[in-house]
Amino acid sequence: MTIKKVMVIGAGQMGAGIAQVCAQSGFNVLLNDMNEAALEKGMKNIEKLLTRAVGKKRMTDRDKTDALRRLNSSTELKDAHDCDFVIEAVVENMEVKKKVFGELDAVAPKHAILASNTSSLPITEIAAATNRPEQVIGMHFMNPVPVMKLVEIIRGLQTSDDTYKAIESMTNKLNKTPVEVKDFPGFVSNRVLMPMINEAIYTVYEGVASPEDVDTVMKLGTNHPMGPITLADFIGLDTCLYIMEVLHEGFGDSKYRPCPLLRQYVKAGWLGKKSGRGFYQYS
Ligand code: NAI
Repeated sequence: MTIKKVMVIGAGQMGAGIAQVCAQSGFNVLLNDMNEAALEKGMKNIEKLLTRAVGKKRMTDRDKTDALRRLNSSTELKDAHDCDFVIEAVVENMEVKKKVFGELDAVAPKHAILASNTSSLPITEIAAATNRPEQVIGMHFMNPVPVMKLVEIIRGLQTSDDTYKAIESMTNKLNKTPVEVKDFPGFVSNRVLMPMINEAIYTVYEGVASPEDVDTVMKLGTNHPMGPITLADFIGLDTCLYIMEVLHEGFGDSKYRPCPLLRQYVKAGWLGKKSGRGFYQYS
């Protein structure tokens, strides 16, 4: 099957990045968000990043204009009616995702593949909210999407080979590297990364060191390009908490218990860079 028109649901940090990369790679893209302000912010961000790329001579002005011409916005899920591929990047919450997939299944064409950019939630369960589980798949981009090369492709229990092949081929067209992963909590990336971030937050919580010092230890001592506390702010503390909860529940192992300080910050609305405050402050 040939994918020409794409809908991206959720215009937050991940959705906007996915929409940008798809438009740059020649796909016609509809970026959807139920929140108009978020949609406008996402569209503006894409334009800003493309303008910056032109300034740095990473793309031509013509490429930027072409990409923007292929990109349109939408606030209605029913706009998926002529899309070949829909990828969801809304909040990391199973109930919200199931609702979106149930609604999408009713409006998207029969041939359309439905993907989720979930960081950790079971694709098999998301797929069960539709009548086309063989056409549902996980396509997990990394943040920031335009920069990071990896896409984890997650096969649900019923995902067909044809669906897998179509998404593998699309990933290559986006100039990213696909890695096939089975449908277990956290897949590979977040099963390895998130317990480290959670443990780093525990060291702050227990007063072992300040956020700055934890980051310095990991950058200079273990050669990480970004410290784990900065990375947590960058990912979004709400997303980090959801992923820890998925690992904790999915494996039933206390080693995945989320740090109380992470919970407290999320309750306070300190969600990291996107809300202006997390472990650090952002202007
Ligand atoms: P975000 O909070 O920046 O954006 C989520 C967007 O979805 C918001 O604009 C919100 O208005 C919109 N939204 C919520 N419900 C909706 C609905 N029913 N219909 C349409 N739009 C809706 O979140 P972010 O960071 O972009 O994460 C999105 C997804 O991507 C999550 O599943 C997350 O786990 C995953 N992800 C996040 C990464 C990160 O580093 N932040 C990395 C890889 C995956």
